[in-house]
Amino acid sequence: VVFENSNTASKAVANEIADLIREKQKENKPCILGLATGSTPKGLYAELVRLHKEENLSFKNVITFNLDEYYPMEPDSIHSYVRFMKELLLDQVDILPENYHIPDGTLTKSQISKYCNDYEAKIEALGGLDLQILGIGGNGHIGFNESGSLQNSKTRLVALDHITRVAASKDFGSLSNTPRTAITLGVKKIMEAKRVVLMAWGEGKSNIVSQSVEGEVTNKVPASFLQEHNNVVFVLDTEAASKL
Ligand code: GLP
Repeated sequence: VVFENSNTASKAVANEIADLIREKQKENKPCILGLATGSTPKGLYAELVRLHKEENLSFKNVITFNLDEYYPMEPDSIHSYVRFMKELLLDQVDILPENYHIPDGTLTKSQISKYCNDYEAKIEALGGLDLQILGIGGNGHIGFNESGSLQNSKTRLVALDHITRVAASKDFGSLSNTPRTAITLGVKKIMEAKRVVLMAWGEGKSNIVSQSVEGEVTNKVPASFLQEHNNVVFVLDTEAASKL
């Protein structure tokens, strides 16, 4: 779906999420959301906060799982995705603190594999993700599933691609300050989400969007796996859609 700009697109995605949350509330069920970071979903989170503050949208029945976190990373660092999510969404709405989950960047290496298994088990115990929000990296990564990630990859510690680190170095000040690894939800859990909404804005994403949507399904471009998902939408602005 192509929108004139990222503002109208973000509002449309926020409305879809609000409808889902309210529908689950009526059924007395939790709404299980997979959340993303990066600059792309900022407008979405701002609109969800507005819906909470101005239109009575409650997050009391919402349970969230973030896609990824840098490793190592302290939660109170200005670079952490914990801080990002709290500032932009979680601390601004009435979600219960026990209901949001963000991969823990403070684990020791030997704790990571069990932690990742438990993260997936929590999602499974809730019946899976009702809706997964995604951005897309310039190389086609989803979460931090870089090129080469398998379609059945699990939640794990990954090495970040050079190109991903270069993009992130703008936030970290320099490449040498930029983490080399991250914990990411695997492709398998993303593919198991009942619905996937990938958002992309701007000319800079147009090539990778067209490769993901119209190119072959290949682990070189993990977002191309989504061609095999039965309920997925790419929400784009005109620039990001310009090469389709
Ligand atoms: C990071 C995040 C991804 C995100 C990507 C794109 O790598 N881990 O989840 O999709 O950046 O970032 P941006 O939205 O800033 O273009």
